[in-house]
Amino acid sequence: MKLLAFGASSSKHSINKQLATYAASLFENVETEIIDLNDFELPLFSVDREKLIGQPPVARTFLDKIEGADILVISVAEHNAGLTSAFKNIYDWASRQKKLVYDNKPLLLMSTSPGKHGGKNALEAAKISLAWYGGNIRATFSLPGFEENFDKTAGKISNKEYDDALKQIIANFDYGQKA
Ligand SMILES: Cc1cc2nc3c(=O)[nH]c(=O)nc-3n(C[C@H](O)[C@H](O)[C@H](O)COP(=O)(O)O)c2cc1C
Repeated sequence: MKLLAFGASSSKHSINKQLATYAASLFENVETEIIDLNDFELPLFSVDREKLIGQPPVARTFLDKIEGADILVISVAEHNAGLTSAFKNIYDWASRQKKLVYDNKPLLLMSTSPGKHGGKNALEAAKISLAWYGGNIRATFSLPGFEENFDKTAGKISNKEYDDALKQIIANFDYGQKA
């Protein structure tokens, strides 16, 4: 089984990438690939720019990564109560080549932020949006107060309650593809 994970952010020290990486490490018997959205940077999407440059290979590569995976782990960062421009941009470009961007792959959708809501607005936005574009969301998890609840050096959730909750979600994760 192949697992693809990323933080939906282009921050070099993305806390969502750290959370996605940790969550990926909790899955057993999987071959994990962590990608960085900085490797999928494209000009800001517009239909006019699309007419000029066509369908960029970078967006195809993003789709290939998803198609090659059996499980997706995505942790969305929250900017102004929504998804980051970096994520929305590669998503928009990719959706012009293939409508079902997330290819119905079983998906663990997460979020975290330094605040007490843990990026839940972005999580809700992603739930609505991805569901229309092949997002087969099997479970969600949000970690509030990242700085207090995550040990960056160890790369793990330090708060036992949240850690146990995530481990439970992953232990019960439904890998099966939709019929
Ligand atoms: C432009 C901007 C807007 C933000 N808006 C929110 C917000 O609405 N809610 C929130 O919880 N955090 C917000 N934050 C803080 C982010 O949650 C924080 O920067 C976090 O590290 C982003 O995740 P990342 O490190 O994975 O990029 C915002 C940060 C930026 C730079």
